[in-house]
Parts: sequence; C-alpha cells; structure tokens
Amino acid sequence: MISGIYKVFFLGLLFSVWKILAKRYLHPLSRYPGPFLWSVSRAPYATAYAQGKLHKRIQRLHDQYGQVVRVAPDELSYQNEEAWKDIYGPSRNFPKDMRFYHMSKSKAPSVVVAPDSIHGRQKRAILRAFSVSALESHERLLCPFVDTLIQMLHPKAGNKQRVVDMTEWYNYVMFDFMAFELFGESLHCLEKGASHTWVDMLFGSIKAWAFLSQSKYFPSLSWIIKAAVFLLRRDLFQHRSTKFAFISSKVHEDSVSESNHPNFGTYIRASNDHKSTLSREEILSNYSFMMMAGSETTATLLSGCTFFILKHPEIYQKLSFQIRHRFSSRIEITFSSLADMPYLRAILQESLRMYPPLPLGMPRVVPKGGALVSGQFVPENTSVAVASWAAYQCSSNFRDPQSFIPERWLDTDIGGDDVKEAMQPFSTSIWGGQLNPSPINMGV
Ligand code: HEM
Repeated sequence: MISGIYKVFFLGLLFSVWKILAKRYLHPLSRYPGPFLWSVSRAPYATAYAQGKLHKRIQRLHDQYGQVVRVAPDELSYQNEEAWKDIYGPSRNFPKDMRFYHMSKSKAPSVVVAPDSIHGRQKRAILRAFSVSALESHERLLCPFVDTLIQMLHPKAGNKQRVVDMTEWYNYVMFDFMAFELFGESLHCLEKGASHTWVDMLFGSIKAWAFLSQSKYFPSLSWIIKAAVFLLRRDLFQHRSTKFAFISSKVHEDSVSESNHPNFGTYIRASNDHKSTLSREEILSNYSFMMMAGSETTATLLSGCTFFILKHPEIYQKLSFQIRHRFSSRIEITFSSLADMPYLRAILQESLRMYPPLPLGMPRVVPKGGALVSGQFVPENTSVAVASWAAYQCSSNFRDPQSFIPERWLDTDIGGDDVKEAMQPFSTSIWGGQLNPSPINMGV
C-alpha cells in the first residue's frame, strides 16, 4: 500500500518536472531569453505586480537579457521602438490581453475593454468631447479650478517651515475638474483641502484590482485568491462596489452642469445617432474609467514634473524666466499660448519619460497565424507588450537615461542620438492621435 502511494507520488513529481522542463525547453517561446522561474511560471510576474514592483523588475530583466525577454511562460516583453509599431500600430490589430484589464462592475464594458463590435461606437461618442470647439469649453471649465488651486496654495507658499504635499493638491484639482466635466459637479476637494472619500475609494479599488487580477492568470486558483482578498482586505472589495454606486447616483439622463459651458458629459451624450450613442450602463462604465484615466494620470505627471523641476534649480529658473517674459497677465495664459512654449513642452515630455504615469507594458495578444515582432516570429496567442519604464530607462534608446534633461526634446545636439520614438506615453497612435490631447497638447 505504502509503496503504491510512493509510486503515485513519484510519478506525479516526475510529471511536474517534465511539465516545467517542457515549458522551458520545448515551448515555442523557449528560444527567447529570460530567467528560468519567470519562463516556467506566472508566479514571479504576479507577485511583482501585486507588490507594485513589476516595472522595475522587468527593467532589470531587460538590462540583463536584452531587447526582448520572456517574462512569463506565454508573455514577451520588449523595449525597442520597432516593437511599439509592430504591437500597437494601427494596421496590426493585436487584441488586448484581457487578463490584464479591469472590468468595471457595470454590466457594459468601457471603451478601454470593449470588443471591436462596440469599441467603434463608444469611440465616436467620446471623440465628440475632443473636438476643437469642445477643447475651448474644457479650457473655460478648467481655469476656475486652477485659480482655486493657486489661491489655496498662496498662503502656504510663504510659510517656509511647512511642507506641502503637491501630489495631494494635484489630485484634488484633477479629480474636482474631471467630476465637473463628467457629472457637472465638483467634488470640492480643493476648497476643503482634503480628499473626497470617493477618491480614496478609487485608489483603494486600484489596489483591489492589483490582487484580484491575479485570479485571471490562475483560473484554477481564482476562488482561493478572491476568498483571500475578501478575508484579508474586505475594505478593498467594498471600495469597488461603493465606487460604482457613487457614479451611478451622480449620472442622471437630465443632469445639468453647474456651468454654462458644455462639459465632457454633454458631448458624450449629445447624439441620437445609434452609431455614436451610449447606453446608460455604457455611460457608467466609461465615466468610471475616465474619472481615473483623466485625473490620476495627469496628477501623477504633474507630481513627477514638479519633483524634477525642484531638483534642478537651473531648469526652474529658465522656465519661470520664460513664462514671466512671455505673459504679462493671467488672461494671456491659454491652452494655445502654452502649447507654443517649446521648453515647457520639453519639460513635460522629459517628465513623462522619467516618471511615466503608466510605467507598465499594455499587453496585447498575437493573433491567429502568429506575427513578426521586432524582426522575429512570435507564435499566436502569445502576450506581447512594450515595457514603458524599461524602454525609457534604456541606454540604447536614450543617452544618460537616468538624468532629467529636457533639452533632449528640443532641436539640440544633446538628444541627437536618442531614439525618441521609443517613448510612447499615450501608446502609439491611440485613435490616430485624436485622443489624449492632455496634458501636453492641452498645455498643462
Ligand atoms: C498624462 C496623462 C495621460 C496618460 C499618460 C495616458 C495614457 C494612456 C495610455 C497609455 C492609454 C492606452 C491604454 C491601453 O492601451 O490599454 C490610454 C488610453 C485612454 N486614455 Fe489616456 N492618458 C492620459 C490622460 C487621459 C485623459 C485626460 C483622458 C480623458 C479625459 C484619457 C482618456 C483615455 C481613453 C478614453 C483611453 C482608451 C482608449 C482605448 O482603449 O481605445 N487619458 N491613455
């Protein structure tokens, strides 16, 4: 009897060892370099992701293994310019790897996760909010929020002893503004100088997602992961539901903006044409996505930008000199006049490189028949992504990559050898460049 148990155990062990070795040495991706553990199991990737360290781990792997690394049994990570075009280029049509993406609690998908059959209609509705005339409205809506930010910071600026957490203030202004854009009413974080519980929940739900998303990579352990998160971090679970209930309570068919100017919500809902109309469920999921996509990303960029300007007094002086000489009053500072300031633009671009709001690669799946990526054949169903942080910090893309050098984005010798196209902070050609005018084109 006992020897029978040993036999079963031994055979099981042998089978597991065989499976591991096959994944490493007989798998179609076996010729791609990568650390042993990462290429035979998703666990190291998942652990680094849940810890918030994945971008740094992948960067180190690229330093060690080169331009392409096998970061999971079925996933390749890239860091070169060519891969951006091969994976995300408009003619490529690689679908998103849905294991990586977050589905909101709404019954309908948002534009970021919608299948092709729905994506086009949602995209048309959202693009209305990015037309030239819409941008003028956004500018008028944004100005009072920026004014309030300055008013609130002014008294604090005189007190040299006091530390001001600018990341908080950038989040206040961006969340107030986006809530006003989408729901027609501010969250009033700026006036109170404090976060709104709903904003805290949004951040909580991102953390929840970092854990819960792992269940998609390990379907057989899915219920254990969900049960563990539920038992250990029930608050995170609740954040997701409460966040969604909040959005639902704020979106009314007949909601009217507190301002005279049309807002995002007005544009998105402005059509009766079935080719660009969103259902209520779709509005809820898209508002939930845009609240985060528009606020946290921009606030993160501004925080990074402030950090680097303050770290480099010579850059701060040059920029403030240019701004003070260019404008004689606040009214002259507009989206279009700011967009015409190359040094400011270069600083924002360098901030996006040194402190990208989305430092991870956005994984796509190689379609049927396989495809060439970066000059090499990749079999179908492989997940592929360009790891933003690794690409931006790589010395074969940028000279002196760890230094903050805005001049590299200007027409100077300093950035002459840099591979500028290796940086795609808004992903390549999202919607043919019509989307994501912020923050650079909107002249933050
Ligand atoms: C610094 C600021 C921002 C950065 C770095 C950024 C970056 C990105 C990236 C990398 C994607 C592609 C995601 C993917 O491929 O899965 C994306 C998608 C998107 N972003 Fe942004 N974004 C920013 C601000 C904004 C703002 C202000 C808005 C709108 C108010 C916005 C709306 C969207 C939308 C609707 C999509 C989905 C496009 C699609 O999947 O078809 N983003 N953004």
